[in-house]
This record gives sequence, C-alpha cells and structure tokens, in this order.
Amino acid sequence: MESYNTISKWFHWITVALMAVALPVGFVIQHITDKDEGATKLVFYAIHESAGVTLFVVVLLRLLWRLRHPAPPLPPSVPRPLRAAAAAVHHSLYALLLVQPVLGFVATNAWGFPLRGATAYLGFIDFPVVMEKNVALAEVVQNLHTIIGWSILALLVLHIGGVIFHQAIRRDGLLLRMV
Ligand code: HEM
Ligand code: HEM
Repeated sequence: MESYNTISKWFHWITVALMAVALPVGFVIQHITDKDEGATKLVFYAIHESAGVTLFVVVLLRLLWRLRHPAPPLPPSVPRPLRAAAAAVHHSLYALLLVQPVLGFVATNAWGFPLRGATAYLGFIDFPVVMEKNVALAEVVQNLHTIIGWSILALLVLHIGGVIFHQAIRRDGLLLRMV
C-alpha cells in the first residue's frame, strides 16, 4: 500500500504534537487558580497561545504542501462510505485548525489581553495589537472558540477511532501510510 510522502508525515506528527499541547492546556486554563496572583495562569496562557499560533503556521504550510502532493490512493478494499467519512473528517479538521487559532487570537485582542509581555508568543515575542478592547466581541468569539475546541475533540475521537478500527478490526495496516 502506498504511503504519504515524508514531508506530509512530518507535518502530520508535528500537528499531533502541537495539538497534544494546545487542546488539553486550553481546557485546563480555566481551572488554574490565582494563588500566586495569576503568574502560573499566565504561563498556561502563553503555552496554549504559542502552541496554537505555531499550529496555525504549520497547518497553512501543510495545506500548501498538500495541494501539490495529494493523499496516496486508498486500497480498493476500503468501501466508499468509509472513504467519504475519512475525507469529511480530514477536511473538517483542516478547516477547524485554521479557524480556531484566528478566533483565539481575536479573542485575546478583544479582551484587551494580547500576546505581549507575560503572554508573548513563546514567552518573548510581542505580537502587534490588532484591535481595541471590545468585551462584547470577545465574549462571542470566545464562545465560538469553546464550541470549536469541543468539535475538534469530537473529530479527533472519530479520527483516532477510525485508525484503531482499521488496525484492530479491518487489519489493513492503514496506519503505516502515515508512519
Ligand atoms: C488549534 C489551536 C487551538 C485550539 C485547539 C484551542 C483550544 C482551546 C480550548 C479547548 C479552550 C478551552 C475552552 C473552554 O473550555 O472554554 C481554549 C481556551 C482559550 N484559548 Fe484556545 N485553542 C487554540 C488556539 C488558540 C490561540 C492561537 C489563542 C490566542 C492567540 C487562544 C486563546 C485562548 C484563550 C484566551 C482561551 C480562554 C482560556 C480561559 O481563560 O479559560 N487559543 N482554547
Ligand atoms: C494518535 C493520534 C493520531 C493517529 C494515530 C493518526 C493517524 C493518521 C493516519 C494513519 C492517517 C492517514 C489516513 C490515510 O491513510 O488516509 C492520518 C491522516 C490525517 N490526520 Fe491523523 N492521526 C492522529 C492524530 C491527528 C491529529 C491530532 C490531527 C489534527 C489535529 C490529525 C489530522 C489528520 C489529517 C488532517 C489527516 C489527513 C491527511 C491528508 O490526507 O491530508 N491526526 N492520521
């Protein structure tokens, strides 16, 4: 069975690593208490937002690469509904991975809490402020960010569940296409 090319594999697993940071840290932030006047919480914000911004750049580059290097054809044994399901999950993931960091970035600016100082990108790169504080906008965008966070989690359950299904039940070795 034909594999993805090496660059596509690297893009995939770098995405996995960044997602393994961005998603859980995002869910955890609200539970970090401010015993040390918020200093720890700010570190969590910086980690979450840095991973998310990096993910955005990686996904953009990944999609540019993907346009010129299509996925290898699936083996004929994979039935049509399964192909359609996989494509739908992959396309949705790509779309949400692009939208989610933009919403996060807009939210931070609208809260008046941009990626500067203690929450600078990677801890030391101050980003420009793109808009004035606007709490009404921040609330809407933050809610969307939460909904899309849960949607990404649901898609990943389908995605990883799909891989396990192929490995354990269909036993067609599909995982090897990406490793
Ligand atoms: C693909 C990348 C990202 C994912 C998957 C993601 C996911 C999440 C999730 C799941 C939450 C928790 C939502 C909740 O339970 O209410 C969250 C919160 C948040 N995210 Fe992101 N996020 C991403 C990128 C970003 C970026 C790039 C920024 C900012 C530049 C950002 C800023 C925030 C902020 C400010 C919160 C609120 C945390 C709090 O106060 O509780 N996110 N994110
Ligand atoms: C343990 C976790 C993961 C495993 C084992 C895994 C495995 C795989 C495999 C085997 C494929 C190739 C499917 C095929 O043969 O057609 C694939 C494709 C893909 N994966 Fe994952 N994946 C994981 C996590 C993730 C995460 C966290 C994301 C994104 C947030 C992701 C996004 C994608 C996308 C978008 C594709 C489609 C690639 C393309 O055709 O352009 N995966 N994954």
